[in-house]
Amino acid sequence: MKKWITALFALTAIVSLVALTPSPVSTKSADPREDSLAADRAKYTKMVKEAIAGKEKLPAEQVFKNIKLFKGQPAEAILGIMENRWSKTLGVSCSHCHNVNDWASEEKHDHAIARDMVAMVGKINDDLLATIPAYATKERKPRIGCSTCHRGESHPGRPNTARAGGPGAPARN
Ligand code: HEC
Ligand code: HEC
Repeated sequence: MKKWITALFALTAIVSLVALTPSPVSTKSADPREDSLAADRAKYTKMVKEAIAGKEKLPAEQVFKNIKLFKGQPAEAILGIMENRWSKTLGVSCSHCHNVNDWASEEKHDHAIARDMVAMVGKINDDLLATIPAYATKERKPRIGCSTCHRGESHPGRPNTARAGGPGAPARN
Protein backbone atom coordinates (compact mmCIF):
# COMPACT_ATOMS: atom_id res chain seq x y z
CA MET A 1 0.00 0.00 0.00
CA LYS A 2 2.77 2.42 1.01
CA LYS A 3 4.59 1.67 -2.23
CA TRP A 4 1.48 2.60 -4.17
CA ILE A 5 1.13 5.90 -2.38
CA THR A 6 4.81 6.77 -3.00
CA ALA A 7 4.44 5.84 -6.65
CA LEU A 8 1.32 7.98 -6.93
CA PHE A 9 3.12 10.97 -5.38
CA ALA A 10 6.04 10.54 -7.76
CA LEU A 11 3.72 10.36 -10.75
CA THR A 12 1.79 13.46 -9.66
CA ALA A 13 5.08 15.34 -9.24
CA ILE A 14 6.24 14.38 -12.75
CA VAL A 15 2.91 15.26 -14.33
CA SER A 16 2.81 18.68 -12.69
CA LEU A 17 6.43 19.38 -13.65
CA VAL A 18 5.67 18.58 -17.29
CA ALA A 19 2.53 20.71 -17.17
CA LEU A 20 4.37 23.67 -15.62
CA THR A 21 7.35 23.64 -17.99
CA PRO A 22 6.70 26.45 -20.49
CA SER A 23 6.48 25.33 -24.09
CA PRO A 24 9.53 26.57 -26.07
CA VAL A 25 7.40 27.53 -29.10
CA SER A 26 4.68 29.94 -28.17
CA THR A 27 4.08 32.34 -31.07
CA LYS A 28 4.99 30.13 -34.05
CA SER A 29 2.31 28.02 -35.66
CA ALA A 30 2.66 24.27 -35.78
CA ASP A 31 3.09 24.38 -39.56
CA PRO A 32 6.32 26.10 -40.72
CA ARG A 33 4.80 26.70 -44.16
CA GLU A 34 2.03 28.73 -42.53
CA ASP A 35 4.66 30.95 -40.86
CA SER A 36 6.36 31.79 -44.15
CA LEU A 37 2.99 32.38 -45.84
CA ALA A 38 1.99 34.69 -42.99
CA ALA A 39 5.20 36.70 -43.40
CA ASP A 40 4.60 36.97 -47.16
CA ARG A 41 1.00 38.12 -46.66
CA ALA A 42 2.07 40.70 -44.06
CA LYS A 43 4.68 42.06 -46.48
CA TYR A 44 2.14 42.56 -49.29
CA THR A 45 -0.54 43.97 -46.99
CA LYS A 46 1.98 46.51 -45.69
CA MET A 47 2.88 47.42 -49.29
CA VAL A 48 -0.76 48.10 -50.20
CA LYS A 49 -1.41 49.95 -46.92
CA GLU A 50 1.49 52.29 -47.64
CA ALA A 51 0.19 52.89 -51.15
CA ILE A 52 -3.27 53.89 -49.87
CA ALA A 53 -2.08 55.85 -46.80
CA GLY A 54 -4.64 58.49 -45.76
CA LYS A 55 -7.44 56.80 -47.72
CA GLU A 56 -7.95 53.74 -45.47
CA LYS A 57 -11.44 54.76 -44.33
CA LEU A 58 -12.80 55.72 -47.77
CA PRO A 59 -15.15 53.30 -49.57
CA ALA A 60 -13.06 50.60 -51.26
CA GLU A 61 -14.36 51.42 -54.76
CA GLN A 62 -12.97 54.97 -54.46
CA VAL A 63 -9.54 53.73 -53.43
CA PHE A 64 -9.12 50.59 -55.56
CA LYS A 65 -9.80 50.04 -59.26
CA ASN A 66 -11.71 46.77 -59.49
CA ILE A 67 -14.13 46.39 -56.59
CA LYS A 68 -17.34 44.49 -57.32
CA LEU A 69 -18.01 42.53 -54.12
CA PHE A 70 -17.03 44.95 -51.40
CA LYS A 71 -18.58 48.22 -52.55
CA GLY A 72 -19.22 50.58 -49.63
CA GLN A 73 -16.81 48.90 -47.24
CA PRO A 74 -13.79 50.86 -46.00
CA ALA A 75 -10.64 50.15 -48.02
CA GLU A 76 -8.74 48.89 -44.97
CA ALA A 77 -11.48 46.35 -44.22
CA ILE A 78 -10.87 44.74 -47.63
CA LEU A 79 -7.23 44.22 -46.74
CA GLY A 80 -8.30 42.59 -43.48
CA ILE A 81 -10.52 40.16 -45.39
CA MET A 82 -7.71 39.43 -47.88
CA GLU A 83 -5.04 38.82 -45.26
CA ASN A 84 -6.88 37.34 -42.29
CA ARG A 85 -9.76 35.52 -43.91
CA TRP A 86 -9.35 34.45 -47.53
CA SER A 87 -5.58 33.85 -47.68
CA LYS A 88 -5.45 32.13 -44.31
CA THR A 89 -8.52 30.00 -44.97
CA LEU A 90 -7.10 28.78 -48.27
CA GLY A 91 -3.54 28.34 -46.97
CA VAL A 92 -2.09 30.62 -49.66
CA SER A 93 -0.45 34.00 -50.08
CA CYS A 94 -1.76 36.95 -52.10
CA SER A 95 -0.01 35.83 -55.31
CA HIS A 96 -2.31 32.79 -55.48
CA CYS A 97 -5.09 35.12 -56.69
CA HIS A 98 -3.21 38.29 -57.69
CA ASN A 99 -0.54 39.60 -59.95
CA VAL A 100 1.12 41.46 -57.08
CA ASN A 101 2.38 44.15 -59.46
CA ASP A 102 -1.19 44.92 -60.54
CA TRP A 103 -3.70 44.20 -57.79
CA ALA A 104 -6.73 45.08 -59.94
CA SER A 105 -5.83 42.50 -62.60
CA GLU A 106 -8.10 39.48 -63.11
CA GLU A 107 -5.50 37.43 -64.96
CA LYS A 108 -5.30 34.67 -62.31
CA HIS A 109 -8.22 32.26 -62.49
CA ASP A 110 -8.41 32.05 -58.70
CA HIS A 111 -9.44 35.72 -58.64
CA ALA A 112 -12.57 34.87 -60.61
CA ILE A 113 -13.16 31.66 -58.65
CA ALA A 114 -13.05 33.62 -55.37
CA ARG A 115 -15.81 35.97 -56.60
CA ASP A 116 -17.89 33.00 -57.75
CA MET A 117 -17.32 31.23 -54.41
CA VAL A 118 -18.78 34.29 -52.63
CA ALA A 119 -21.90 33.92 -54.78
CA MET A 120 -22.01 30.18 -54.06
CA VAL A 121 -21.74 30.74 -50.29
CA GLY A 122 -24.61 33.25 -50.55
CA LYS A 123 -26.76 30.70 -52.40
CA ILE A 124 -26.00 27.92 -49.91
CA ASN A 125 -26.82 30.19 -46.97
CA ASP A 126 -29.89 31.95 -48.32
CA ASP A 127 -31.45 29.43 -50.71
CA LEU A 128 -30.49 26.09 -49.15
CA LEU A 129 -29.52 26.18 -45.47
CA ALA A 130 -32.14 28.73 -44.47
CA THR A 131 -34.90 26.76 -46.16
CA ILE A 132 -34.32 23.52 -44.25
CA PRO A 133 -37.69 23.41 -42.47
CA ALA A 134 -36.27 22.98 -38.97
CA TYR A 135 -34.20 26.13 -39.45
CA ALA A 136 -36.69 28.11 -41.52
CA THR A 137 -38.57 29.29 -38.46
CA LYS A 138 -35.48 30.02 -36.36
CA GLU A 139 -34.48 33.64 -35.97
CA ARG A 140 -30.77 32.84 -36.03
CA LYS A 141 -30.14 30.88 -39.22
CA PRO A 142 -27.11 28.61 -39.55
CA ARG A 143 -24.55 29.96 -42.03
CA ILE A 144 -21.45 28.64 -43.71
CA GLY A 145 -18.32 30.55 -44.78
CA CYS A 146 -15.15 29.87 -46.75
CA SER A 147 -13.57 28.12 -43.79
CA THR A 148 -16.42 25.61 -43.53
CA CYS A 149 -14.89 23.80 -46.49
CA HIS A 150 -11.39 25.17 -47.00
CA ARG A 151 -9.82 24.91 -43.52
CA GLY A 152 -6.37 25.90 -44.73
CA GLU A 153 -6.60 24.07 -48.07
CA SER A 154 -6.99 25.60 -51.53
CA HIS A 155 -8.40 22.33 -52.90
CA PRO A 156 -10.76 20.99 -50.25
CA GLY A 157 -12.57 18.73 -52.70
CA ARG A 158 -9.61 16.52 -53.52
CA PRO A 159 -8.51 13.47 -51.59
CA ASN A 160 -4.97 13.26 -50.21
CA THR A 161 -4.49 16.98 -49.80
CA ALA A 162 -3.53 16.80 -46.16
CA ARG A 163 -1.31 19.71 -45.13
CA ALA A 164 1.43 17.25 -44.30
CA GLY A 165 2.09 17.26 -48.04
CA GLY A 166 1.29 13.72 -49.08
CA PRO A 167 0.73 12.71 -52.69
CA GLY A 168 -1.72 15.10 -54.29
CA ALA A 169 -0.87 17.95 -51.93
CA PRO A 170 -1.74 21.20 -53.72
CA ALA A 171 1.01 23.23 -55.31
CA ARG A 172 1.45 26.58 -53.59
CA ASN A 173 2.30 29.83 -55.29
C1 HEC B 1 -8.71 33.76 -52.81
C2 HEC B 1 -8.23 34.79 -53.71
C3 HEC B 1 -7.60 36.02 -53.12
C4 HEC B 1 -6.56 36.08 -52.23
C5 HEC B 1 -5.80 34.95 -51.58
C6 HEC B 1 -6.27 37.50 -52.06
N1 HEC B 1 -7.12 38.24 -52.80
FE1 HEC B 1 -7.14 40.25 -52.94
N2 HEC B 1 -8.81 40.18 -54.10
C7 HEC B 1 -9.44 39.05 -54.53
C8 HEC B 1 -10.66 39.39 -55.24
C9 HEC B 1 -11.66 38.43 -55.85
C10 HEC B 1 -10.73 40.81 -55.23
C11 HEC B 1 -11.84 41.68 -55.81
C12 HEC B 1 -12.83 42.02 -54.72
C13 HEC B 1 -14.10 42.72 -55.22
O1 HEC B 1 -14.57 42.45 -56.31
O2 HEC B 1 -14.63 43.60 -54.47
C14 HEC B 1 -9.53 41.27 -54.53
C15 HEC B 1 -9.20 42.61 -54.37
C16 HEC B 1 -8.00 43.06 -53.84
C17 HEC B 1 -7.53 44.42 -53.90
C18 HEC B 1 -8.20 45.58 -54.64
C19 HEC B 1 -7.55 45.68 -56.03
C20 HEC B 1 -8.17 46.75 -56.91
O3 HEC B 1 -7.41 47.64 -57.36
O4 HEC B 1 -9.38 46.71 -57.14
C21 HEC B 1 -6.34 44.47 -53.24
C22 HEC B 1 -5.43 45.69 -53.04
C23 HEC B 1 -6.08 43.13 -52.74
N3 HEC B 1 -7.10 42.29 -53.15
C24 HEC B 1 -4.99 42.79 -52.00
C25 HEC B 1 -4.74 41.49 -51.52
C26 HEC B 1 -3.67 41.16 -50.62
C27 HEC B 1 -2.66 42.16 -50.05
C28 HEC B 1 -3.73 39.81 -50.41
C29 HEC B 1 -2.86 38.96 -49.51
C30 HEC B 1 -2.75 39.40 -48.11
C31 HEC B 1 -4.87 39.31 -51.20
N4 HEC B 1 -5.45 40.36 -51.84
C32 HEC B 1 -5.26 37.99 -51.24
C33 HEC B 1 -8.97 37.76 -54.33
C34 HEC B 1 -7.96 37.39 -53.46
C1 HEC C 1 -19.16 24.21 -49.83
C2 HEC C 1 -17.71 24.13 -49.79
C3 HEC C 1 -16.95 25.41 -50.16
C4 HEC C 1 -17.08 26.67 -49.65
C5 HEC C 1 -18.06 27.15 -48.59
C6 HEC C 1 -16.09 27.50 -50.31
N1 HEC C 1 -15.37 26.75 -51.18
FE1 HEC C 1 -13.87 27.40 -52.39
N2 HEC C 1 -13.70 25.56 -53.20
C7 HEC C 1 -14.45 24.44 -52.84
C8 HEC C 1 -14.09 23.32 -53.69
C9 HEC C 1 -14.65 21.92 -53.60
C10 HEC C 1 -13.11 23.80 -54.59
C11 HEC C 1 -12.41 23.04 -55.71
C12 HEC C 1 -11.11 22.53 -55.20
C13 HEC C 1 -10.41 21.69 -56.25
O1 HEC C 1 -10.02 22.24 -57.27
O2 HEC C 1 -10.28 20.51 -56.00
C14 HEC C 1 -12.89 25.21 -54.25
C15 HEC C 1 -11.97 26.02 -54.88
C16 HEC C 1 -11.72 27.34 -54.55
C17 HEC C 1 -10.71 28.16 -55.18
C18 HEC C 1 -9.76 27.71 -56.26
C19 HEC C 1 -8.58 27.07 -55.60
C20 HEC C 1 -7.47 26.78 -56.55
O3 HEC C 1 -6.31 26.87 -56.12
O4 HEC C 1 -7.74 26.44 -57.71
C21 HEC C 1 -10.77 29.40 -54.59
C22 HEC C 1 -9.91 30.60 -54.92
C23 HEC C 1 -11.81 29.34 -53.58
N3 HEC C 1 -12.37 28.06 -53.59
C24 HEC C 1 -12.15 30.38 -52.76
C25 HEC C 1 -13.19 30.34 -51.84
C26 HEC C 1 -13.62 31.47 -51.05
C27 HEC C 1 -12.96 32.84 -51.06
C28 HEC C 1 -14.68 31.05 -50.30
C29 HEC C 1 -15.55 31.87 -49.37
C30 HEC C 1 -16.15 33.05 -49.96
C31 HEC C 1 -14.92 29.65 -50.62
N4 HEC C 1 -14.00 29.26 -51.55
C32 HEC C 1 -15.91 28.86 -50.06
C33 HEC C 1 -15.39 24.38 -51.84
C34 HEC C 1 -15.85 25.46 -51.12
